[in-house]
Amino acid sequence: MKPTGLTGIRGSILNPLSVDRCEWIPDGLLVYDRAGQILYCGPNKKIPGIKYKPLNAPKKNIIIPGLIDCHSHLSQFDAIGQTGFTLLDWLKNHIYPAEVCLNNKKNAENISQRYFQVLLSSGITFSSLYTNFKTGVLAARRQAEKAGIRALIGYTLMDRTVPGYLKQNPARTIEECRVLSGLFKKSGNERLSFSLNPRFAPACTPDYLKMIGQLAQNEDLYIQTHLSENLFEVSAVKKAFPKVKTYAEVYDRFGLLTEKTLLAHCIHLSPAERDLIGKRGCGVIHCPSSNLFLHSGRFPLEHWMHYPKLALGSDIAAGPSVSMLDVMRDGYYANIQKLSGLFYMATLGGAKTLGMEKTIGSLKKGKQADFVILKTVHSKNASAEDVLSRIIFRSGQVEIKKVFLAGQEVWP
Ligand code: GUN
Ligand code: FE
Repeated sequence: MKPTGLTGIRGSILNPLSVDRCEWIPDGLLVYDRAGQILYCGPNKKIPGIKYKPLNAPKKNIIIPGLIDCHSHLSQFDAIGQTGFTLLDWLKNHIYPAEVCLNNKKNAENISQRYFQVLLSSGITFSSLYTNFKTGVLAARRQAEKAGIRALIGYTLMDRTVPGYLKQNPARTIEECRVLSGLFKKSGNERLSFSLNPRFAPACTPDYLKMIGQLAQNEDLYIQTHLSENLFEVSAVKKAFPKVKTYAEVYDRFGLLTEKTLLAHCIHLSPAERDLIGKRGCGVIHCPSSNLFLHSGRFPLEHWMHYPKLALGSDIAAGPSVSMLDVMRDGYYANIQKLSGLFYMATLGGAKTLGMEKTIGSLKKGKQADFVILKTVHSKNASAEDVLSRIIFRSGQVEIKKVFLAGQEVWP
């Protein structure tokens, strides 16, 4: 056979279609071209006019789309599992001291390198993350590029109520962010984007929030932040912004609620706040493992079930596992639901939340071939829910064999 530049892989395919539909193809075929674009995904068959080189893959494999983690803190990677406190005390006692280490280039490179390798080994092909300092952003960018992963990278912005070693000068930091944004845009690496990440309203002065909102608008940047995670946090916002009625309105007042905003947690919101978020078209990131670990409360899925921009986040280090399979499991513990809904949130829902569903999130003709080959015990006659149950609740028995981004093997 003459080389055609096409690659094909046979296996069982698990593919999200919508929030309540997942397709299970016991004998499936995925074909993609040299540029990593999918030409065919469906039942295994001879496709007229298409000749491909078969990829050598383990037998009895399952192919799933690359997993998407829409909220994580790279700079907290080494602080996983620090117990004993709820959000505000946990930040003070464990997290702020961990984040300062990113100010050192060697530390920042080391932690970023390990972070992305662990992500790939867990089947994650996209990470929306927070790091710290310009050194942290540059290290994350370099290491993400080396790993070949996709990422939305921002550094945590804060200018009050945090230790002096993390407090920023707003004008100087905004200028630094403007330069970094230009650097990301110029680099031409489509897999990596820069975002503005105000930590949360209690850690930013009104002036800072205003400058962040303006820069996001001028540069058309994503915004990542936390909203209504913990009741003490909500009280702190009331005190810090006494004239503003609700927490969500604080962000809105400064132009921080946009279609490119990712809001983590959203637990203790009023109906008016939920309406406002919907009107602005923001992404909502459900972080079930973190909510359990910090005893923050239950995410009220009943209000968001059919929201078009709902995704899952590990929220490392408040969430103790980088594995999105574990995050899906905790999502089930938080809210009884179909497993296909959780799988959707960690794949296609994540892509929709990011506005990237045309290129990633599921295995579909025209999209990028970001996929994971995993192995687990399953029977061919199973349903999608059965297979998802095996993967999610027996994640310890799941072997992530290979990970591909745009058709290129990036792990192992
Ligand atoms: N709220 C403000 N900062 C943080 C953080 O680092 N982690 C979590 N889970 N919530 C936050
Ligand atoms: Fe977080």
